[in-house]
Amino acid sequence: MEIKKVAVLGCGLMGSGIAQVAATAGFDTTVLEMEQKYLDKGFAGIEKSLAKFSEKGTLKEEPAAVRARLKGTTKKEDLADCDIVIEAIIENVEEKKKMYASLDEIVKKTAIFATNTSSISVTELLTATKRAERFVGMHFFNPVPLMKLVEVVRTIATADEVYESAYEFTKKLGKVPVRTSDKTGFIVNRLLVPYLLDAIRAYEEGVGSIEDIDTSMKLGCGYPMGPFTLLDFVGLDTTYYITHVMFDEFKDQRFASPPLLKRLVMAGWYGRKSGKGFYDYSDAANLKANKL
Ligand code: 3HC
Repeated sequence: MEIKKVAVLGCGLMGSGIAQVAATAGFDTTVLEMEQKYLDKGFAGIEKSLAKFSEKGTLKEEPAAVRARLKGTTKKEDLADCDIVIEAIIENVEEKKKMYASLDEIVKKTAIFATNTSSISVTELLTATKRAERFVGMHFFNPVPLMKLVEVVRTIATADEVYESAYEFTKKLGKVPVRTSDKTGFIVNRLLVPYLLDAIRAYEEGVGSIEDIDTSMKLGCGYPMGPFTLLDFVGLDTTYYITHVMFDEFKDQRFASPPLLKRLVMAGWYGRKSGKGFYDYSDAANLKANKL
């Protein structure tokens, strides 16, 4: 089936990035949010990002032309005739299920439902709808406009042609899809989460300082960011949540949250977004690790 009209649920960091990528790839894209102020915030980020690409000469047209394909709405009815719905709302099972159940009644029956969840079971989410065979995972990475990968997730109920449509659509977005199945964490988080948690455990055990562990992985392994920079970038609250879902699924110590991560989250130190995490972001030019 041909995908022409795209709907994105949520205009936060991931939703706005997905919407930007879809509109840049030429798709008419509508973003749903609960309130106009969230759309305004997300669209301001999109404008900034498009301006950067435009300055670099990597945008094929004027930012205004991309922007013209993007619409924001607070009404679910505006998504009725879209061909694919990509959900990127809060990482909460009940909220996501509620959203899918209400849209199932409104959006045309042939549309594909996709979720950008990083850790929640796609199979559990599809139970909120009557279109189990038309349901997939499409897991993007932050920052969406720059990161090439999308994990395309198949459940035992996903129809082959739906999976292939989602896979091909991902390529049309200019991304590189990989095939994976609905096993918690998929490919990337299955490998990334234990690595990030091990970095915290290494720090707790006095193996090295936050800065030195980061420098080691950057310069010793060629990673673009060290583990603590990446943890702050992803968000410590998000990582903490993911560890719980993965530990619950596998009952494996590799996915258990180290005490320090819990303490940081309890204190409201979520990383970049809250101004404090493993690093202090109050002076961006002079980034220092916090004494933890
Ligand atoms: N839009 C457009 N341009 C952007 C941008 C955006 N949203 N964000 C950054 N840029 C530009 C910058 O302005 C900069 O441009 P310049 O070269 O002209 O100065 C360029 O991209 C490079 O950015 P930076 O100089 O800030 O930094 P880097 O060279 O380190 O690149 C990065 C940034 C691509 C984020 C790189 O550091 C990286 O790949 N980091 C790892 C990110 C990662 O691992 N993400 C996955 C997280 S896990 C996840 O999302 C899954 C979830 O389930 C947890």
